[in-house]
Amino acid sequence: NLKIITDKNQMRTWTRAMRSQGKTIALVPTMGFLHDGHLSLIEEAHKHTHLVVVSIYVNPSQFAPSEDLSTYPSDFDGDIRKLMAVPGGVDAVFHPYNLYDYGVESARCGNGVVSNGTAVVSCLEESGSGHETWVRVERLEKGMCGVRRPVFFRGVATIVAKLFNIVEPDVAVFGKKDYQQWRIIRRMVRDLDFSINIVGSEIMRDVDGLAMSSRNVGLSLEERQKALSINRSLSKAKSAAERGELNCKSLKSLVVDEIREAGGELDYVEIVEQESLEVVEQIKSPVVILIAAWFGKVRLIDNIEISI
Ligand code: PAJ
Repeated sequence: NLKIITDKNQMRTWTRAMRSQGKTIALVPTMGFLHDGHLSLIEEAHKHTHLVVVSIYVNPSQFAPSEDLSTYPSDFDGDIRKLMAVPGGVDAVFHPYNLYDYGVESARCGNGVVSNGTAVVSCLEESGSGHETWVRVERLEKGMCGVRRPVFFRGVATIVAKLFNIVEPDVAVFGKKDYQQWRIIRRMVRDLDFSINIVGSEIMRDVDGLAMSSRNVGLSLEERQKALSINRSLSKAKSAAERGELNCKSLKSLVVDEIREAGGELDYVEIVEQESLEVVEQIKSPVVILIAAWFGKVRLIDNIEISI
């Protein structure tokens, strides 16, 4: 009895019908091509509400024209099979075709659209869609993953706000794997008075310690071996901090050395305060070490929280 809904009005009608029966609803937003990391969010969601909705939608507005939306992996049938096997099940899947088609001009992009890569424009805008309203979480979206991907978090915050208005959930679950994204959504919900409880779910790792990601399939065996340096470096820095090394410069150099030795190319490593994502020099309050690094053609992100 897994319900697949593709129409946004039908989605809202379903939620309202369920709510009138006294049910509470959690939303787990995804872009599909599901792995166990995604599925762990569903199990977390079941701890908070009666019903769980999973959305599967590859959001064009969080891709820049230079990033290839058209090659984003998808396997809808496989996703549905996985969702049917999740402990506790899933009550509805929201799988819209296009959430930016307002009957103006349909939004298409990713098909050979050329861009200089620097303009602050998403492939949605290049496609000439009728959409022009954006949610920006101004300070939090700037650092780290926002540096090289200037439209990314704007696209994420906007689609999540749209999904919240369509699904009208009581709770939404996000993975701490995408730590900056999770913090941005929490802040958006607070600042815009969404009446939704945002839950952060722990990072799921493979047995070798690598954080699960749809991008991991792009790693060769050798690259995957090297990529284990990410988690190793984070754990090393955490134990050093727990032994009393509270200077962030020293902790960061532990991480940098470990990644370099393994042959990875570091994009960034930052030690920031957990809620504000403000860079710190000396650990005095709970922090998180955030890292992004390239192994071959694959960019991986990971993080570790340190509460001293
Ligand atoms: P996607 O990359 O599909 O991820 C969906 C959710 O799964 C996110 O909350 C992400 O943090 C979580 N996730 C991914 N890998 C995980 C892991 N190893 N452990 C725990 N959680 C994990 O993130 C997005 O989609 C999009 O930006 C979205 C929020 C859906 C907006 O389009």
